Amino acid sequence: ASRPRVLSGIQPTADSYHLGNFLGAVRNWVTMQDTHDAFYMVVDLHAITGGHEPKALRERTRVSLAQLLAVGLDPQRSTIFVQSHVPEHAQLAWILSCLTGFGEASRMVQFKDKSAKQGADRSSVGLFTYPILQAADILLYQADEVPVGEDQRQHMELTRDLAGRFNGLFGQTFTLPRPYIVKETAKILDLQDPTSKMSKSSSSPAGLIELLEEPPRSAKKVKSAVTDTGREIIYDPVEKPGVSNLLTIFSALSGRPVPALVEAYEGKGYGDLKKDLAEVVVEFVTPIQRETKRFLDDPAELDKMLAIGAAKAREVASATLASVYDRVGF
Ligand code: ADP
Ligand code: NA
Repeated sequence: ASRPRVLSGIQPTADSYHLGNFLGAVRNWVTMQDTHDAFYMVVDLHAITGGHEPKALRERTRVSLAQLLAVGLDPQRSTIFVQSHVPEHAQLAWILSCLTGFGEASRMVQFKDKSAKQGADRSSVGLFTYPILQAADILLYQADEVPVGEDQRQHMELTRDLAGRFNGLFGQTFTLPRPYIVKETAKILDLQDPTSKMSKSSSSPAGLIELLEEPPRSAKKVKSAVTDTGREIIYDPVEKPGVSNLLTIFSALSGRPVPALVEAYEGKGYGDLKKDLAEVVVEFVTPIQRETKRFLDDPAELDKMLAIGAAKAREVASATLASVYDRVGF
């Protein structure tokens, strides 16, 4: 039997991905290469909904790809590409947007949240229709599974609704994707505010560990992470979110189970834990930085890889779009 097809995307990020992106998402992408027919993309079309600077976007897209390759995405085993290199995404999005009710789109809570922050009048129509482009991203590849976090569930439902609607109106065309709930996804918290998640947009620099920052800087952030009252190193996310977060990160990066860590640190202090975790973080990011640099230092090779990825992606995307156009009456 063939492997289920999975599709996932990540926005190109300014400067660097952070530990949360890696442990919460990209690490699973790496493992799914062994079990799935995987399509992974850097979603630059999605990155322009709120205004952007062209030169910075181009740079961010390349640095993002280099990081994804550096952590183990393998173009031999998966299809790795840039969204804008495959024009079918935008083409299918238009057709799907004509099948989406205005009220239906208006119920997307992520738009409500994001536009509330920017001021609804200043939000772009692109931000509003973003979930429809996401649906196109998925349906173009006939993905069986899409890894989703809680915040993406509603968009996933919209994708399934649109696929079912199109199939009903025009004949069986799209696979209805299943949400793929990853069992062991670590949620990484802000080192300075362990009640909220580590996030590029909301964490302070000291709360965020970036894959590409100077390793001594990361070490310092770990050592000055907010911990909790008391002295015991135990895993208790409610009473001790700071220490628990450090244990989560430690476990995820070292492969040692949390209970084993708790046992190993019995009778020791927060300082010991932080010192060791700082070392683990440095050992983790150092080779990633070396590999990222290697990919960025060879732009021709990166371009070649991207062209191959885009060609592989387009093979599937263009076949889907051709049948969509035919069914729609174009
Ligand atoms: P950010 O919040 O930094 O802007 P994104 O929202 O762009 O990050 O997230 C990109 C991917 O990384 C998503 O799949 C998201 O679930 C995952 N992710 C982001 N932050 C974390 C975190 N702190 N812990 C676990 N996963 C995370
Ligand atoms: Na975010």
